[in-house]
Amino acid sequence: MSEKSCSTGGKRNEEKLIAGNWKMNGSLAANEALVRALLDGLGGDAGCDVAVCPPSIYLAQVRALLGASERIALGAQDVSQHENGAYTGDVSAAMLRDFGVRYAIVGHSERRQHQAESDTHVAIKVQRALAAGITPIVCVGETLAQREAGETEVIVKRQLAAVIHLNGHCISEIVVAYEPVWAIGTGRTATPEQAQAVHALLRAQLRAATDRADRVRILYGGSMNAANAASLLAQPDIDGGLIGGASLKAPDFLSIIAAAS
Ligand code: PGA
Repeated sequence: MSEKSCSTGGKRNEEKLIAGNWKMNGSLAANEALVRALLDGLGGDAGCDVAVCPPSIYLAQVRALLGASERIALGAQDVSQHENGAYTGDVSAAMLRDFGVRYAIVGHSERRQHQAESDTHVAIKVQRALAAGITPIVCVGETLAQREAGETEVIVKRQLAAVIHLNGHCISEIVVAYEPVWAIGTGRTATPEQAQAVHALLRAQLRAATDRADRVRILYGGSMNAANAASLLAQPDIDGGLIGGASLKAPDFLSIIAAAS
């Protein structure tokens, strides 16, 4: 890919990014209440970049609710690895772009586990997103068994290496999310020190691949909440959060945004 073809227009790593991963939750009524509460609570300037990632069927609804507002960006939870054609049920990067989608979560551990997404699938999805001008939020993370076996570094580096290998210099356009699988939805958060240690490894890996590694935002995800966000976000290589459960409650999500601002 040429430099131009993978540019998502992303800015330097100056502002933190707080992204809400709604997973398979929501309804027309609940989404409307949540988005209205977020817009009301944010006021003029959020002080950091904010995104919400509803289920794909609700992207159009949430886009309409967000209106012309630039305060909250729209994200998808997945993108097809195919460009178009006979792939029943898939949603392409170009279709997401049609609906104003700015970010796409790629390679979430729930998809790696339940949809058998491999590192190669994830790398191709990243390529599709970038080609459509969408910023992929690439998830990496180890299971509890892998952590206990001392394999954390090997696992997260292998997952990111596949994406770097296929996407070359475009790697500076991605967002990475370190999400230890044992911390997702469990209420058991990585300590700030544990998270920072892995983020530093990922940063070093990015530096070896691009001289623009410092512009790549590396988010932490896994039971981040209003109480623990500030200490996680204070770490030098933690540039934001990918928030599941707490993103479904406006006061909690707004508190995390405030901690990042
Ligand atoms: P959680 O989910 O905040 O509910 O742990 C995070 C995620 O899976 O992205």
